[in-house]
Amino acid sequence: MKALVLSGGSGTRLRPFSYSMPKQLIPIANKPVLEHVLENVRDLGVTEVGMIVGGWAQQIEAVIGDGSRLGVRVTYIPQEQPLGLAHCVQLARPFLGDDDFVMYLGDNMLPDGVAGIAEEFATHRPDAHVVVHKVPDPRAFGVVELDSEGRVTRLVEKPREPRSDLALIGVYFFTAAVHRAVRAIRPSARGELEITDALQWMLTHGGAIRASEYDGYWKDTGRAEDVLECNRRLLEQLRPGLVGEVDRRTEIDGRVVVEEGARVVRSRIEGPTIIGAGSVVEDSHVGPGTSVGRGCVLRDTRIAESIVLDGASITSVPDLYGSLIGRNAVVGASARHRLVVGDHTRIEVAA
Ligand code: DAU
Repeated sequence: MKALVLSGGSGTRLRPFSYSMPKQLIPIANKPVLEHVLENVRDLGVTEVGMIVGGWAQQIEAVIGDGSRLGVRVTYIPQEQPLGLAHCVQLARPFLGDDDFVMYLGDNMLPDGVAGIAEEFATHRPDAHVVVHKVPDPRAFGVVELDSEGRVTRLVEKPREPRSDLALIGVYFFTAAVHRAVRAIRPSARGELEITDALQWMLTHGGAIRASEYDGYWKDTGRAEDVLECNRRLLEQLRPGLVGEVDRRTEIDGRVVVEEGARVVRSRIEGPTIIGAGSVVEDSHVGPGTSVGRGCVLRDTRIAESIVLDGASITSVPDLYGSLIGRNAVVGASARHRLVVGDHTRIEVAA
């Protein structure tokens, strides 16, 4: 089996981050979403990965490389415009050949893995096997209807009035039967070739589609709130370890990782929290639920439930909470509010 990982698209819901980086590289517990995805793929025993990349191809290739660091072999497949998930399958045909494959959306986190579902697919080999999850508001997703025996009877992309609460959650198993379907469908109202429509086409033309419910933790990391929640969740599974330097006046409480070359002085680090390689934390209280990236500087600051990306510095801020601080951002204090803020940024000032 091969894998097709989708890492193109635009990610406008994650602005302003998506102006300078692809959403698939946002770090969760100090590791890009895409690395979590590739580790999940590798855990299925799949090593041949085709990766769809759009305008951010260079940044993605700079981080993922040939994939060997993660135990996979990545072939990059450029997509000039985000014309839809089924368009990605069309583009990947030369890479996929007639092999079975797992298609994995590069911004979806399923930290509990899908190995059991992959086995089910391998045993029954229906034309397609989809992974579903109950969601409170299915209107933002592909929605799957099942009959009383659990067979898929209908699939609709983002229906206004969903007839089930089972959403497609970004992992699909396919046989080569999908290739006829992705060639047969037409663009949807949003102008995309929808994989949901291709699946529905397969059903209508006599194909067999199975569904398995994933009952672990799942997050589509499309919005800042989702990224923060997912970060908190993954930090809770951290294996604690203090490799960097922690001085005697620092108090460490709970699951804490201080990576190589990081220095923590006169501070309190409350787990679950990770301090990235080469970062400096002085006279601060960091955590819980916080990831500090590499090469950051935090001084005289209190921060919790947040993600600080590589190279950012925060000085004398008494109460930061639920924040996402971008790469090399500078956050400081002054007598009045003074902001140099990019497009589509969100700021909430304590009143
Ligand atoms: O998150 C699950 C949902 O993902 C499913 O329930 C929907 O059925 C499915 O259509 C998809 O919906 P989204 O609108 O959330 O998809 P999004 O545009 O965010 O794209 C998903 C991933 O695929 C993302 O990593 C970007 C990548 N992508 C997307 C498009 C449209 C590409 O690589 N190329 C594309 O052309």
